Parts: sequence; structure tokens; C-alpha cells
Amino acid sequence: MTFPPEDPTLPFGLDAIRAAASVIRNGGIVAVPTETVYGLAADATDAKGVARIYAAKGRPSFNPLIVHVPDLATAQTLAEFDDDALALARAFWPGPLTLVRPLKAGAGIASLVTAGLDTVAIRVPRHRAMQALLMESGRPLAAPSANASGGISPTRSPHVRASLGPDVPVIDDGATEAGLESTIVAGRTILRPGPVTAAMLAQVLGDVEQGPQAPAIVTAPGQLASHYAPRKPLRLNVTHAAADEWLIGFGDVRGQDSLSERGDPVEAAARLFDALHRADAGDRARLAVAPIPDEGIGEAINDRLRRAATR
Ligand code: TXA
Ligand code: MG
Repeated sequence: MTFPPEDPTLPFGLDAIRAAASVIRNGGIVAVPTETVYGLAADATDAKGVARIYAAKGRPSFNPLIVHVPDLATAQTLAEFDDDALALARAFWPGPLTLVRPLKAGAGIASLVTAGLDTVAIRVPRHRAMQALLMESGRPLAAPSANASGGISPTRSPHVRASLGPDVPVIDDGATEAGLESTIVAGRTILRPGPVTAAMLAQVLGDVEQGPQAPAIVTAPGQLASHYAPRKPLRLNVTHAAADEWLIGFGDVRGQDSLSERGDPVEAAARLFDALHRADAGDRARLAVAPIPDEGIGEAINDRLRRAATR
């Protein structure tokens, strides 16, 4: 089985995984769902494959990528783990947590993946499709979110197709669960808030630091002030929208759409990018979003919304 050329999308299953593993082993790229967002995967040890990711995304090449591995034991062959990192890995892997760790000498990761840094961002995903592809390909997989650089992250396969065009093979396994990119932690500092919240990290580490919101020196492009941008202007913390605004509601604030009518921030995170895609494609000139409580995963939602609103 190979990906059909006219619409290279296959539903999750053995055929799709075998076809995708073959693409990966031949230095190609495949979009695959994870529990956070759809990723655009290539063999992390194959510089040409990794270059195809940057090319497909139109991504500035100084932005390093996350490496996905099937388990902690494999992660330890690629990077150094101290006690804190081991505790986090044992608590949250497989799952939506990425650890920035010192790269091991001879790990074989293409320098294009780390953008020449001596650290690597690494995670063990939980999603069945990404896990199956890791096992079948037998390679560590570099995978940024499967969208054109700076665009909205994809939580469904049609988002990938719309953003990356007709040629990229996609494994379709429906909507992703978390809907927000993984939390990134370096040491005890949160570089990017995500589904594993500061409170969850603090339960394991005792205390954690919040990274700077938009640092002068960008170590993670998720930190760029403007990122995840819809095409239309976006206004935040809106309870009463103007006539030309598409309001994305939350809780009691009702609009054209809602992140969660019952005011559940986890449901809101899972729906966020989907709602932004719908709003961008909607019939109004401007976008607005209701206030989201800034606690727990709400911090990560507001982080993404601030970037989406910055232009
Ligand atoms: O949920 C996710 O993390 C998704 C799925 C596909 O796994 N991936 C994702 O990748 O969001 P991407 O490339 O869109 O974001 C990777 C982030 C970037 O902000 C990048 O700069 C940061 O990880 N990063 C990668 N390597 C790093 C390193 N060595 N030090 C600091 N940040 C790093
Ligand atoms: Mg991204």
C-alpha cells in the first residue's frame, strides 16, 4: 500500500503505518497525528528528510525541531537525563511533555534538527498513530506541527492539507485530543506552556519557573511574539463583539462558535485551533475571543491567543 497520489491521505491502520514508515525510511515526510497536534515527521537522523520538513513548512532554518521517540530508554540513548528529567519523564511520558536535554555525543541526530545547538528537545508521544509509526519505522522522528510556518497548528487532517498543499502524505486519525502543542521544559524552566501545566510539573519538581513571554533571544519559535497567526485581526477578552467580528465564545459568553459552552478549559484547549481555523474561514472581517481564565491549561491557551493576536 502506498499513499494515493491524487489525495495522499490514508486512514490510520496497518496499511497507512506501513506506507508512512516506507516514506520515512526513504527520506520523505509524512503528517501524523499526535495527542497534541498533527506533526510533520521525518527521520531525525536523515538530514535530507529533515530539510524536506523545513522546505514544506517554509520554516526559518534556525528553528530547532522536537525529536519523538517510542520510550524513555530510547530517549536516553540520544540525550542525557538528570534526576529531575527522569522524574518528569516517568510522570508524564508517554504524553504531551517535551524535555530539552543535552545531546549525547554520537546520537546521530542531524544537526539541522537541533539547529546546531548542543541540546535536543525530545518527547515520547502517547498517540497510537505516532507510536505505531515510531515502532514500524524504527527511527527517531523529528516533527514540528504540520502547518506552514507561523500558521495555525493543525488538529485535523484537512487543516494539514489546507496549510501544506496537495502533495504531503497524511495519516488521518480524526481530531487530536489535547489540541495544543506539548509543554516544553528545560531544567526547571517552562519554555512553552502546554497541556502539562505548571501545577502538574510542580507536583513532581517542587517548584518551576515560567520562561519569558517573548524573549529577545528566541530559543523556541513558539516564543516568537507573533505566531499561530490567523489571517484576520484578532481581539482578546471580548464579551461583546462588534457586528463585523466573529466571536469565539467560552462559558456564558456566546458567539458564532464556542471553545466550551460549559466553560471547561481542557475542552477549550482541544478546540482552540479548530475554532481559529473556522473563524478565519468565516464570513466576518475580524475575530474576537471571549476571556479564558488564566489558570492551569488556561495559561497555555492565553499564551497561544496572545501570539495569535500579535501581528
Ligand atoms: O506537541 C508538539 O510539541 C508538536 C507535536 C507534533 O509533537 N510539535 C511541535 O513542534 O509543536 P514545533 O516544531 O512546532 O515546536 C518545537 C518547539 C519550538 O518552539 C522549538 O524552538 C523548540 O521546540 N525547541 C526545539 N529544540 C529546542 C532546543 N534544543 N532548545 C530549546 N527549544 C527547542
Ligand atoms: Mg508549530
